Amino acid sequence: MSDSPGQLSIFRTALERMGLLAPHEALRAEPLTGGVSSDIFRIDLARGPICVKRALAQLKVIADWRAPVERNRYEVEWMRVAAAVVPQAVPAILGEDREAGMFAMAYLDPATHPVWKTQLRDGIVDAGTAREVGRCLARIHAHTATDATIPARFDTDAIFTPIRLEPYLAATALAHPECAEALTRLIETTRSNKRALVHGDVSPKNILVGPDGPVFLDAECAWYGDPAFDLAFCLNHLLLKCVWRPASWVSLLHSFSTLYQTYLAGATWEPAADLEARVAHLLPGLFLARIDGKSPVEYITDDRDRAKVRRVALQLLHNPVDNLARVQDTWRADIARW
Ligand SMILES: Nc1ncnc2c1ncn2[C@@H]1O[C@H](COP(=O)(O)OP(=O)(O)OP(=O)(O)O)[C@@H](O)[C@H]1O
Ligand SMILES: [Mg+2]
Repeated sequence: MSDSPGQLSIFRTALERMGLLAPHEALRAEPLTGGVSSDIFRIDLARGPICVKRALAQLKVIADWRAPVERNRYEVEWMRVAAAVVPQAVPAILGEDREAGMFAMAYLDPATHPVWKTQLRDGIVDAGTAREVGRCLARIHAHTATDATIPARFDTDAIFTPIRLEPYLAATALAHPECAEALTRLIETTRSNKRALVHGDVSPKNILVGPDGPVFLDAECAWYGDPAFDLAFCLNHLLLKCVWRPASWVSLLHSFSTLYQTYLAGATWEPAADLEARVAHLLPGLFLARIDGKSPVEYITDDRDRAKVRRVALQLLHNPVDNLARVQDTWRADIARW
């Protein structure tokens, strides 16, 4: 696919327009794996390797899941905003071709920038990474909560709803009529708390662990909205990893508490307790969504494990708690130790 003449000529045209490629310069493209929503390539140029990303209209998941391709431009915009706040935590943007729906960024070598998810899979669970993820995320949220240009630049409800709220929370409400009301309330609360620039996909598979700390990728769900979504989304992954890697549950839960405590210490734009309560309410909706929504995690395959996650989710959706220590305790009691 990567070396098909059609694909190469699309890259050539776009890279020339971005000023990254001379007219007759040779180029070689190699697809990068791991993503489902875009074509993403390492491209070798005379100047060295770069990474080029193009959004797809139909995501490569089993369920039919379509998303507007203009999200590519919001991803670049998110990277630019984050670069002004935490420059080491995003890849440098090298160029953008809006017409082609593509952008180019620095290529980060996996030898020095492993994917966080791969580390967690392999039992490398460093609370220092979790702390830096929490710190950087809070800084981006704090900065953008007071930037008056952000609401208009990231007015992306029409993308965030079909790509996040519907496949996760609304699809789960359809699968679980007994908690549909609670899930619908979560959607409404998330929609109505417009406070900061949200990344929208803060998952360990979208974070590289570099020598200068975490590097956030894949911001195509960027949205001016509720920052609670980002924290809950990331914490959810740390909880689910306990089911995937039970041998690491103690360190995973330590990373969970380190991440949220660091984040909340940097939450300056609203009372931390209000924000924490929204995150604590969202979390069970999100972990149920990764079992019964449109995009279930690929690594929880045992029906007994799925049933346990459902049980904890339903308990917390029916009896919401306002702080994350209680969510963690419930998870530890019912899931981590068995
Ligand atoms: N700048 C980069 N340098 C090196 N590798 C990268 C870079 N950007 C992305 N990758 C690799 O490509 C993978 C997919 O990238 P990305 O998450 O942006 O794509 P996606 O299709 O939007 O993914 P998703 O399925 O999460 O929506 C990453 O997990 C990472 O391994
Ligand atoms: Mg990704």
